[in-house]
Amino acid sequence: MTKKIFPKNFLWGASTASHQVEGGTTNQWSVWELSHAAELAKTAEKRLGNLPIWKDIKSRAQDPHNYVSGSGVEHYSRYKEDFDIVKQLNLNSFRFGIEWARIEPSQGEWDENAVAHYHSYIKELKRRKIEPVLNIWHWTLPTWFAEQGGFKKSENLKHWQHFVAKIAEEFGRDLNYVITLNEPNVYTASSYLNGQWPPGEKNPLTFLWVYWNLVRAHKYAYKILKAKNPRLQVGIAAQLANIQAKRPHNFIDELVTKWMRYFWNWMFLRRIRLQQDFIGFNYYFTDYFKGVRRHNPQTPLNDLGWYMEPEGLYPLLIRIWTRYKKPIMVTENGVADAGDEHRRWWLEETMVAMERAISEGVDVCGYFHWSLLDNFEWAYGWWPKFGLVEVDREHGMKRTIRPSAKWWAEEISELQQD
Ligand code: BGC
Repeated sequence: MTKKIFPKNFLWGASTASHQVEGGTTNQWSVWELSHAAELAKTAEKRLGNLPIWKDIKSRAQDPHNYVSGSGVEHYSRYKEDFDIVKQLNLNSFRFGIEWARIEPSQGEWDENAVAHYHSYIKELKRRKIEPVLNIWHWTLPTWFAEQGGFKKSENLKHWQHFVAKIAEEFGRDLNYVITLNEPNVYTASSYLNGQWPPGEKNPLTFLWVYWNLVRAHKYAYKILKAKNPRLQVGIAAQLANIQAKRPHNFIDELVTKWMRYFWNWMFLRRIRLQQDFIGFNYYFTDYFKGVRRHNPQTPLNDLGWYMEPEGLYPLLIRIWTRYKKPIMVTENGVADAGDEHRRWWLEETMVAMERAISEGVDVCGYFHWSLLDNFEWAYGWWPKFGLVEVDREHGMKRTIRPSAKWWAEEISELQQD
């Protein structure tokens, strides 16, 4: 691998989200988990029975406990140990979330212990020379906010602003990078269009309205954060897919591809183009469209049945750069791979894709692998394994670095040498 291509200050990191790792969170999601676990277990075969690994996951996917985040992977109490692992992996940055429901458990009331926790969290990262990249919102809502309608009601944006102002006040001067929202498109589609996530609504108009309110939420947050610290680099973590026509030059495939690229990839980013300092995005998929249907190759697939095309990152980087000419941060990227069979190949291809783009002049400033630890995969629960580090929840939450991560750590160490 060519050493000099990645800039010296490139952010090599791993990504997490508070609800997926901390444990002991109480929010709209944790409440929903408890009331939906039995049903998710009962319908598992219908939803997941087609997966090539179904027989391996069957017993876990049919167990209601799988669907409860519970004690997470105890990252809330074990963060120092986890940051030592980040160091061991030769990473120089870390993306994490602050759980709104912990900071503001009741409307307008701050939990100063929780605030102090996140102060010490950031301090411990910095002490290890790990650049903290804060993600303010990763889908979870305090129950009081959800009960008032969450982001469905424009008037609730005042609560969001109040929360962001607190974050800016407390942490704004300690940070260089802040992500306001994670994947607003996935959130609105799953929570308000296909109804698979709380609050389980299926209404295209509500979907668009919540989407629009999240655009506004980002704009407010950007203003508040920049007023506190103008040097802060602020963006979002968009979910972007490498969308391609199955039959290049076929009129319908090209038309659908164009529309899907706009609808899924650019619609949100376009609306906030004046309010972002970098383009942050999560990359997991290449999607081929044949007519109006997704028509992906059947192999190779990850454990979740997602078609794996890691090199699809390259065309996406080129397209983002062509549109926005701003530094680009890959805020999430990874693979559900319990056997650690594909991760090294995935990482290798991903590095090559970034090298190609950088050598062609694209300003890629960082890469954050999803995820540091095996974690709670939302409505899938615990069985999918995205971690660079395996966590054994049955045996004292024991952390074990996967072979692919050891390999990657060596690569990164070489790249960081002069
Ligand atoms: C989300 C993560 C999730 C990952 C893998 C991303 O869309 O931001 O929270 O764990 O996908 O499913």
